[in-house]
Amino acid sequence: MTEPGAATASPAAPASPSDWWQDAVVYQIYPRSFLDTDGDGVGDLPGIIDRLDYLRDLGVDAVWLSPIYPSPGLDVGYDVSDHSRVDPIFGTEADFDRLVAETHRRGMKLVLDLVMNHTSDRHAWFEASRSSRDNPYADWYLWRDPAGYAADGTPLPPNNWVSFFGGSGWQWEPRRNQFYEHTFLVEQPDLNWRNPQVEAAQMAMVRGWLERGVDGFRLDVFNAFLKDPDLASNPEQPGATAWNRQRHVNDRDQPDFVDLLARFRALVDEYPGRFTVGELFDGGPEQAATMTGGDHLVFDWEFITAPWSAAAFRELVERRERLFGPDRRPTLVFSNHDQPRQASRFAASAGTDDIDAVAKAAAMLLVGLRGTPFLYFGEELGMVDVAIPADEIVDPPARIAGPDFPWWNRDQCRTPMAWTSGPMAGFTTGRPWLRTGDYARHHNVAAESADPDSVLSTYRRLLAARREVEALRRGSYETLDAGDSDVFAWRRAAGGSTAVVAVNFAAAERRIRVPRGDAVRAVAGTHLDPPAPDADGGLTLRPFEGVILTSG
Ligand code: GLC
Repeated sequence: MTEPGAATASPAAPASPSDWWQDAVVYQIYPRSFLDTDGDGVGDLPGIIDRLDYLRDLGVDAVWLSPIYPSPGLDVGYDVSDHSRVDPIFGTEADFDRLVAETHRRGMKLVLDLVMNHTSDRHAWFEASRSSRDNPYADWYLWRDPAGYAADGTPLPPNNWVSFFGGSGWQWEPRRNQFYEHTFLVEQPDLNWRNPQVEAAQMAMVRGWLERGVDGFRLDVFNAFLKDPDLASNPEQPGATAWNRQRHVNDRDQPDFVDLLARFRALVDEYPGRFTVGELFDGGPEQAATMTGGDHLVFDWEFITAPWSAAAFRELVERRERLFGPDRRPTLVFSNHDQPRQASRFAASAGTDDIDAVAKAAAMLLVGLRGTPFLYFGEELGMVDVAIPADEIVDPPARIAGPDFPWWNRDQCRTPMAWTSGPMAGFTTGRPWLRTGDYARHHNVAAESADPDSVLSTYRRLLAARREVEALRRGSYETLDAGDSDVFAWRRAAGGSTAVVAVNFAAAERRIRVPRGDAVRAVAGTHLDPPAPDADGGLTLRPFEGVILTSG
């Protein structure tokens, strides 16, 4: 392991105002898969510290860590058994404090993932809660008597709720002769947020992390914290799967959630310059826009399901612009630890083998559209999904997938980061917890750093352009008519700064027209020699080419 060198904030980095997140590019690290420094096959915090220079040089402003708390690991870290500590598998408490300090020393921010809808069933709160009906934690989870008993004596669940991870949403606990509710695994009981003691305990935990210097939080499935107070059944509807055969109006999205969110934000606001982003559980941009405000952003999933088409992107960007208006900031999320990698998905949708070309065009969209970009680790290399043989599956729902419960095995997008073309992609000296992919032979940090035309070098150029051009970070958005249906073009403007961005979604050359005056000089592009428009505004884009143009 190398010691981080004398680091300074990149000179091009914008100053850090309290709304730094407006300028920021957030990089998501899945800690198990980033860099393993002790040879146990699992990534760790010292590994992240070791590669902070890499992230700074890439042009990342903030690092979001998927959960680092003690966990039995059934939902690979999203089943937390103690929210206020670091899992020893990732390092020590001192490693964490060093990570905060080293991140800040490089002018970057550190964001944690708060899993507050549920805990692990091994959490001390739940172990107490399940033990009897009259212990101090008895009402900390959602306990209910059975609706009745079947003829054979089997207790019947209190309502029709189902688990997102398959099967009933209720689990019988013989010690209490009651059911508890779980939106995810049986081993992930949902907390009772309507109990003020639960809210107080969560807020105290959050304050603890703020005191340790973290700059923000991602809130896991935040719109599910509150359920209908009476736990009424969800209305049934036609649908292909058990989950879709219900309208989820009672197990999430409760009207009083806005008040809970405001109380949470008031706590975070006691610490200036801390931002939060909520992960919508199954919601669209309409809902994301309503819940966005102040220093709080919201993820929605439209880009993640969008096909690779200029028309589809233009339509969804215009719709979110209408919904968010100029003052609320959308997020830009093309992939994460739950979804197919963007290079794989977009290239498949484009019907091309030139995965790198599509990965670079996607980078242009992420950097050029209005919103805060979230970049999932490895996307900057053009990493792709890895097929996992059935006997190596880790993701629990993937093991029980079937016709009534289709599930995309999330292991495929969680495979280790590729640092070198050497053994185990330079990720570990041991046996990696998930296999590394063939991609590592060509798509790794060492090889791509040496190639100016790699996906990684393209990301570095585009992220540098974003820092240079204020309009790309803070500018307004306006669609441009480029005159070709395969090209999506738009203008960003902030103060005196403007930028025109054009992306060719086709695997063939396209000739377009851009407004003269606004688009004279190419600042950066997916290709090493980005084209500038001719005197009439005519511009030829090569297959999957994207370009950022400015007026001067
Ligand atoms: C979120 C996480 C996902 C996890 C689930 C339950 O959707 O992103 O990985 O399985 O919540 O915690």
